Amino acid sequence: MRKLGVAVVGTGFWGKNHARVYKELESTELVAICDANAKRAKTISDQFGVKAYTNSARMMKKENIEAVSICTWSTSLAKEALKGLKAGKHVLVEKPMATNTKQAQKLLAKAEENKLHLTVGFLMRFIPGVQHIREAIASKTIGELVCATAKRVSQWPERIGDVGVVKDTAIHDIDVMQFIYNENPIAVYAKTGSMRHRKFEDYAQIMLTYEGGKSAFIESNWLTPYKTRTLTVTGSDAIMRLDYITQEVWIEAAKENRQPKYPWQEPLKLELQNFADCIMKKEKPIVTGEDGLKALRIAEAALLSSEKNKAIKIR
Ligand SMILES: NC(=O)c1ccc[n+]([C@@H]2O[C@H](COP(=O)([O-])OP(=O)(O)OC[C@H]3O[C@@H](n4cnc5c(N)ncnc54)[C@H](O)[C@@H]3O)[C@@H](O)[C@H]2O)c1
Repeated sequence: MRKLGVAVVGTGFWGKNHARVYKELESTELVAICDANAKRAKTISDQFGVKAYTNSARMMKKENIEAVSICTWSTSLAKEALKGLKAGKHVLVEKPMATNTKQAQKLLAKAEENKLHLTVGFLMRFIPGVQHIREAIASKTIGELVCATAKRVSQWPERIGDVGVVKDTAIHDIDVMQFIYNENPIAVYAKTGSMRHRKFEDYAQIMLTYEGGKSAFIESNWLTPYKTRTLTVTGSDAIMRLDYITQEVWIEAAKENRQPKYPWQEPLKLELQNFADCIMKKEKPIVTGEDGLKALRIAEAALLSSEKNKAIKIR
């Protein structure tokens, strides 16, 4: 089987996992890695036995790379992703994709112009329970969709210092709502604030409203001493609950409660496999660049809503 030549730009906490998974997958060959921090680049390249670079443009010129994962700090994701697309590489850019929608639009335009795959690291879509909930909503096995509530709270991961909790953390749930509802919200109302973080918001409550009276609530913070990541979906006939950490799913109806079993799977492995497969088979990825842009647009609207203390309509 032909292996896809891949590289990772930014090999900190998360990029290191991309490098590991590319090494593990049968369909990919990790060719090189790049980190602006030379010591970090050397450590990771030694671990995986590939060449290290501190400059991504140089790496992309020299090595036989078809696709790159961009896992740098959030504020440099768009710049590095654009370099990859300009160099003719398929790109998986980590969330939040860019720091604003203007930068994200540039990425979409470049990918389209160069006929390249552009996907965003919205990992939650690959958790089997999320896909199961999406199917249950579409087939109405839980009745009519009423609302969904997502909770993603923990202590502040101090290494994140360049965006707030909305673009770093809540954006996962904003995207999950897009995925499971399969429609765009019409408005967003949010309250955000900062208790410990000096520069950015460290808590956010976001409400999305949809056509026909449906809504979604997202609670995110970096203040809770323990880690919780859950999703509850209310239908007119049943409730579905998911624990993202254990990947357990519960279905609760008036007459019976069920707990369908899905074996735990590493979401990053499924995500990178999908990225590689879509490139090789020329198929549309599960997460498109457009999905990334939409999530960012809603995140920006949430921040504006809190600032202006009013609901913001989504175009
Ligand atoms: N999808 C997910 O579930 C998930 C989980 C964790 C992190 N992330 C995302 O991954 C990204 C990285 O997060 P992290 O926690 O690994 O941060 P980190 O600080 O641990 O690592 C970032 C690394 O990027 C390097 N870097 C920065 N700018 C660079 C550049 N221009 N070129 C090359 N290297 C550069 C830094 O030296 C550092 O080693 C963030 O955008 C974050 O939002 C996504």
